[in-house]
Parts: sequence; C-alpha cells; structure tokens
Amino acid sequence: MNQIFRQVKLSAFYHDKALETYKNFLASVIIPKNASIMDIGCGSGRITSKFLHQMIPAHYKELVGIDIDHSNIEYCKTLKVDPRISFEQMDIDTKELPVKFRNRFDILFSSYCFMYARTRQWISNSYDLLKPNGELIYLFKYNINPLYSAYREMSRKAEWKPYINDFADFVPIYSGDNRNIELKNDFHKSGLILISHEFLPDIAFRTNKIEVLELLGAMNRVTYRIPADKKEKFIQAVQQTISDITNIDFMDKKKLHEEIQWKCPTVIIHAKKMI
Ligand SMILES: C[S@@+](CC[C@H](N)C(=O)[O-])C[C@H]1O[C@@H](n2cnc3c(N)ncnc32)[C@H](O)[C@@H]1O
Repeated sequence: MNQIFRQVKLSAFYHDKALETYKNFLASVIIPKNASIMDIGCGSGRITSKFLHQMIPAHYKELVGIDIDHSNIEYCKTLKVDPRISFEQMDIDTKELPVKFRNRFDILFSSYCFMYARTRQWISNSYDLLKPNGELIYLFKYNINPLYSAYREMSRKAEWKPYINDFADFVPIYSGDNRNIELKNDFHKSGLILISHEFLPDIAFRTNKIEVLELLGAMNRVTYRIPADKKEKFIQAVQQTISDITNIDFMDKKKLHEEIQWKCPTVIIHAKKMI
C-alpha cells in the first residue's frame, strides 16, 4: 500500500471532465494563427501532448507544459511529441515569473492543479503570462482537499508538527459560503476579466482506491521532509487520516481494488486579459 502512495504516476479518471470543458471552450473562442499556448500543471503530459495538441487548431506555434514537479517534467521530456511541444519545471505560484514567459501566451489551459497551490499568486501570474486579448480556461477542485486537510490534522500532533506546521491553517480553496464573491474579487484584483465561472458541487468520479492513492501519492510533496526512519509511519498516518476525512477505507490492502465515487466539486473558469 505504501508503495502505491509513493508511486509517481498520475491517474486519469478526471480527464473526461477536462476534455469536455476544453472542447466547449474551444468551440467558443477563436485561436489566433501562430498561437502560443500553455498547459499549467501538466502532470504526465498526456493532456498536453495527446489531447490539447489535437484539439487546438493545427496552426499553433508552441505548446508549453509546465509543472512544479521535476520528476513529472523529466517524464514528459521522454515523450515523443510534436516539436512545437515543450515541457518546463515551474511553480505557477512563483513570485518570480520567468521574464521569457511574460506576455507570451494566447491561451492558458489547466486541469485539476490549482487546488494544490498554496497562495493565489497563480491568478496574477496568469494575467502576466497572457498577451492582451489572451484567454484562459481552468478547472480545479474546490471546497475539499483531503490530502492537505490530512496534513492540517496531522500538524496538530506533536510527532508531525515540526515537519508540516505550514499546513496548520490550511483551508481548501473556495470553501467559504461567499465563494462566488471571493472568486470574482480574486480575478478582479488580478486585472483579468471573468467571462464565466461555474461551481459544480456534485461532480464525483468513478474510480478505485488504488487510483486515488496513486494520485494523492504523486501530489505528496512533504514526505521528503520526514526523517528516513519515520517515513513509513508518516505515510501510514496520512492514509489513515485521509480515510477518516473521506470515510473511505484506504487501509485494508485487500479492498484497494474496490470501486469508489471520488468527490471532486469542480469550478470552471473562463477569463480574459483585455487590451
Ligand atoms: C491532479 S494533477 C493534474 C495533471 C494534469 N493537468 C492532468 O489533468 O492530467 C495536478 C498537477 O498539478 C501540479 N502542480 C501542483 N501545484 C503546482 C504549482 N504550484 N505549479 C505548477 N504545477 C503544480 C502537480 O505536480 C500535478 O502534476
């Protein structure tokens, strides 16, 4: 079970929702000739290199996938892809957006990434990445985040507090009752014009426990902080806490192939940078 949690592999059970969202968006926008396009939090690069490459007009100039996780980018770089596609390690929440990326992109895509960002810098960075008239389409989970909520709970225990105290005040993105206003304010502050946004509270994906553990394991960027002799215990504690939070038993090895409904309340955002 621990092997599964550690595995650097990204599941794809949510891809249909991302592809449906992108398809609807692409039906409503005109992508300029020689467009520069970015996929933020590209993960395994599958959506970038397989689906986006086919969905966007063939006359695009470049498609850049970025991800905070170095090992994801190393993997993406091994993919045999169209020469216009490239991958780069970058934290979308950075305070120092690379100069070469500023005002460069016509379209930004992102699926199920921003719930893992620790600040809202990604919104103003989105503004800075876009050219005037550029547009973005993002979808991500809001309101719940079992992994970071597990870190928050564990940060209250003396044993784990020294390593994950930065999660003590963690609150899932757009989890307050005023989420509509909060989102509008966030985008207004950044200078982006919100064209549409939709909170879809009832989205849940049919998957199995192994896929979920693989995904959460790949999102887990705190285990490196834990001393080697405590790592095993830490991973067990994370899985136990996620089980408690979600009411899904991730501890019984014999039942890991069981199908589950994995809740993913999703917000879809379409915004634009005006001239
Ligand atoms: C659930 S995966 C989704 C991957 C891909 N978009 C897809 O739909 O298959 C989330 C991805 O976001 C990346 N990520 C999380 N925080 C990030 C950040 N601050 N900057 C860039 N990428 C980030 C993770 O490393 C992970 O690859």
